[in-house]
Amino acid sequence: MEKAGSLLFACLLCAWVRTTAAASAAENVFLLAGQSNMAGRGGVRNDSARGVLVWDGFVPVECQPDPRILQLSLDLEWIDAREPLHREIDANRTNGVGPGMAFAHKLLNDEPRIGIIGLVPCAFGGSKITHWLRGGRLYTQMIKRAEASVRLGGRIRGLLWFQGGADTDKQDDADCYRCFLLKFFTDVREDLGIPDLPIIQVAIAPGKRPFSKTVRKAQLSMNLTKVTTLDSKNLPVGPDNVHLTTKSQVILGQRFAKAYINLTRGNPGHGYRDAW
Ligand SMILES: *[C@@H]1O[C@H](CO)[C@@H](O)[C@H](O)[C@H]1NC(C)=O
Ligand SMILES: *[C@@H]1O[C@H](CO)[C@@H](O)[C@H](O)[C@H]1NC(C)=O
Ligand SMILES: *[C@@H]1O[C@H](CO)[C@@H](O)[C@H](O)[C@H]1NC(C)=O
Ligand SMILES: *[C@@H]1O[C@H](CO)[C@@H](O)[C@H](O)[C@H]1NC(C)=O
Repeated sequence: MEKAGSLLFACLLCAWVRTTAAASAAENVFLLAGQSNMAGRGGVRNDSARGVLVWDGFVPVECQPDPRILQLSLDLEWIDAREPLHREIDANRTNGVGPGMAFAHKLLNDEPRIGIIGLVPCAFGGSKITHWLRGGRLYTQMIKRAEASVRLGGRIRGLLWFQGGADTDKQDDADCYRCFLLKFFTDVREDLGIPDLPIIQVAIAPGKRPFSKTVRKAQLSMNLTKVTTLDSKNLPVGPDNVHLTTKSQVILGQRFAKAYINLTRGNPGHGYRDAW
């Protein structure tokens, strides 16, 4: 009888701990959006014998699972985060390591009091900026996932954004890029009701595409408040010349974290750091 009682207690405790972990996870929600380099292709190689892309499965120590890092599943539930983070969202492509886990680890390391982090994967390989405009499929999906994370008790702390490569082939796309990007950032903030939402974006490398420089210039000229721009120019890419290696993704993730901390430091006004 005693045994059964303590077993029941253990189960209840276990259920309580699980619920609590999931509930507090939402305290620090970060949206991950953009194209393949945000989804993560680190460690993805073309197996030319079979003609398919495969992930090598290597997860560096900076990207390992951690009880303090959760991710929002496709079913809108918090689950333990693990690479590849975008396996359910960018589902028809071969995903590898992206910047998300390294970002979360670095943030936890540098701001140990921050609490549980909830990553919300939304990136989609090959997507153009127009897919991310209000009403577009990816925009709608991202807002829906962001709202779900808030319903689960979370507070959205920031948007990590890495996109632009898909808009470098046509002059029209590149010429419209700055205006569309501005609209995207502004609409996200408006639709989430967070006018000063911290946004950290990445400028694409100058590259070999016809209009990479135009898109890059647009990104580097973004001068909205609380938007920081990182530069991917010197980050090594894999043999396809496009996708960041696993090592580069770790560096990028850590830069995202440093930029986020810098962006929200000494700014008690909007309370991002007050709560930590
Ligand atoms: C992989 O490489 C082969 C041979 O070089 C090429 O034909 C194929 O298109 C590549 N596959 C992908 C998915 O990149
Ligand atoms: C994957 O491809 C299938 C078949 O084309 C499509 O129905 C589905 O929507 C795709 N899934 C994603 C996540 O893009
Ligand atoms: C931002 O940049 C645009 C275009 O370069 C410029 O017209 C505008 O004055 C700038 N705004 C601020 C707040 O710096
Ligand atoms: C940190 O923020 C300050 C003020 O916004 C900025 O001038 C500086 O370049 C930032 N440093 C880094 C490393 O991001």
